[in-house]
Amino acid sequence: MSELDDPVGSSLHGPHAALARRVGRTATYPADVATFCAVPADPAPQDWADLARLVGPGGLADLFTAPGTPPPDWTPEFAMPGRQLVAPVPTGDVDPRVVELGRDDDPAMLQLATATRPGPFFARTARLGTFLGVRDGGELLAMAGQRLHPGGWVEISAVCTAERARGQGLAAVLVAAQVARTAADGGRAFLHVVDTNAGARALYARLGFTQRRPVLFRGFRVPG
Ligand SMILES: CC(C)(COP(=O)(O)OP(=O)(O)OC[C@H]1O[C@@H](n2cnc3c(N)ncnc32)[C@H](O)[C@@H]1OP(=O)(O)O)[C@@H](O)C(=O)NCCC(=O)NCCS
Repeated sequence: MSELDDPVGSSLHGPHAALARRVGRTATYPADVATFCAVPADPAPQDWADLARLVGPGGLADLFTAPGTPPPDWTPEFAMPGRQLVAPVPTGDVDPRVVELGRDDDPAMLQLATATRPGPFFARTARLGTFLGVRDGGELLAMAGQRLHPGGWVEISAVCTAERARGQGLAAVLVAAQVARTAADGGRAFLHVVDTNAGARALYARLGFTQRRPVLFRGFRVPG
């Protein structure tokens, strides 16, 4: 199985192992980082019981790259078709407006993600990797971050631009900068996008991303 078939599991058992919380063969992130969960390739009833303990009664288990189907008493919370795209080989220079964001930027990143809703984003999501942004004076206008790290791959995530700064190419330069940075570190970038996000899909297609496989963003409420 390729690292990209279960990037959550590959990250939690690999480069993100220090962040992982585990019970048995299951793993997840701290709740203020991410709700993604990993189960083994052949999940057995014991694994689902372990994951239920890990997530806690009434908790949300985001299983978007996990194999198998949870027991029937887990309530489906959402299911959205999407795609996994892989980056092209980078070309060109990184735009000089792109800066690396740090912990001082945490409140601004959370505010931008809350306003634009690029996907799940919590108080410490930015701990998952390097975040790049473009500022105007003190204001964070746009950002693109790194999330999952399966093997030599790096997932680009939390791509968003403040409403007032859209259509100026900021998301394009930030995604291109993350692609270039990943390649410079010897890796290759990929990302996920929901099918209904036509604007983002057009952006990634224009940047040369190609589809690797369909995915289903799916979350389940643990009973209790
Ligand atoms: C999707 C999103 C990140 C795009 O941000 P953006 O900074 O406006 O993106 P860009 O400016 O790079 O590209 C968007 C459009 O502007 C156009 N554009 C790019 N450079 C331009 C320029 N210099 N002048 C005018 N228009 C330009 C592009 O052609 C593109 O047009 P399109 O709609 O036909 O694709 C933004 O709409 C957003 O934050 N959405 C909500 C969060 C989200 O869905 N994130 C993606 C999750 S996968």
